[in-house]
Amino acid sequence: MRIGILTSGGDCPGLNAVLRGFCKCAFNIMEGVEIYGFIDGYAGLMNKNYRLLTPADVENILDIGGTILGTSRQPYKLMTVKEGDAPTKLQVMVDNYKKLKLDCLVTLGGAGTHKTASLLSVEGCNVIGLPKTIDNDIYGTDVTFGFHTAVDIAAGAIKRIRTTADSHSRVFFVEVMGNKVGWLTLYAGLAAGADAILIPEIAYDEEKLAQFICNKKAQSRSVVIAVAEGALSSREAAMSKKERKEYLSAFESGSAAEKLCALMTQRTGMQCRATVLGHIQRGGEPCAYDKFISTEIGAFGAHLAKVGRYGVTVCVRNNKLSYNMLVDIAGKTKRVPADGQLVLLAKDMGVYFGE
Ligand code: F6P
Repeated sequence: MRIGILTSGGDCPGLNAVLRGFCKCAFNIMEGVEIYGFIDGYAGLMNKNYRLLTPADVENILDIGGTILGTSRQPYKLMTVKEGDAPTKLQVMVDNYKKLKLDCLVTLGGAGTHKTASLLSVEGCNVIGLPKTIDNDIYGTDVTFGFHTAVDIAAGAIKRIRTTADSHSRVFFVEVMGNKVGWLTLYAGLAAGADAILIPEIAYDEEKLAQFICNKKAQSRSVVIAVAEGALSSREAAMSKKERKEYLSAFESGSAAEKLCALMTQRTGMQCRATVLGHIQRGGEPCAYDKFISTEIGAFGAHLAKVGRYGVTVCVRNNKLSYNMLVDIAGKTKRVPADGQLVLLAKDMGVYFGE
C-alpha cells in the first residue's frame, strides 16, 4: 500500500505527534506499506515534492512543535479557479495523486484543509482527514489536536498579565487567537480567571463594557479581559465588510485588543493596556493531553487506511474516536453556542461577556 501524508494550513503543537502515531501504527499493522510525506502541505502534492518516510523519521518527534514536513496555506477558492488553459490546482493534485499511484492521502489540517480534502475525495482520491487546529472550530468533533496546548499557553499568559495589572492597577485586554470563533478565548479566559471574555459569537456593547470596567475597577485593583481576535462590538457586527474596514482604519491598529484599549481608555479614563499573544500560541511542545490525543488520532487514522475507510475525517465524540464523512463537515464551522452550558455557567459566576 502506498500512502501520501501532508500537514496543511497554520501549524500547531501535535502535528509531529500525529505523524508519529500514524506512521508507527501503519508500519506495524500494514506489511510493506510505503508512506510519502509531501513537503509544505498541498503545495508538495501540487509540485510532486515529497520524501519517503522511514520509521527513523518519526522517532523522537512526539515532543517537538511544528511539523517535520513543513506546511503552507492553500486558499480553498483558488483550488478550482482556472487560469487560462492551465489545469486547476485541484486537477493538478488529482493527476499527481494518480501519477504517484497513491492508494490513499492523509491530510492533517483545519477547516481550509478539510474543504480541499473533501474536493479531492469527490474527485475520486481516497482521503482521510485528521483534525488539527488551535481554533477547535472543525465541525463534528469535540476537540482538535493543538487546541489544549494553545489553551495552556494563553491561560498561562493571561495569569501572568494579572500580576502586572494588579501591581499597576491597570485594565488589560489580552488578545487570543481563534480566527472567527471563541473557543480558545473562552477556555483560556475561564482557566485564567479573566473578569470578562469577549468572543465573536457574542457581540459586545461598548458603553456597557465601559460601565462594567468602571464598576469592576471600583472593587478590585485590576481588570483583565480576554479578547478573541475575532470579537466584534454590536456596532461593528451591524456594519457591512466595507463599512467595518473604513471604521477600523481610524484606529492605529486593527487588532481587537488594541482597538478596545484605545476605545476604553477614552471612555473610562483609566490606564488601559493591550497584549496580543499571537503565534506564541501555536509554537513549541504539545501539552500532555495533545501528545495523547494526537497519538491516538494518528493511530486511528492508520486503521482507517488499513480497512479502506475513505472520504472521512477522524473526530472525537464523547471521548471516543470516530469519523465523519468529509462532505458532511466541509465548509461548516463549529462555533461557541452563546446560550450553551459553558457560557451560562461562566455568566452565573460573574464572568462578563460584554452584552
Ligand atoms: O487557524 C489557526 C490560526 O492561528 C488562527 O487562530 C489565526 O487567525 C490564524 O491561524 C493566523 O494565521 P497565520 O499564521 O497565517 O497568520
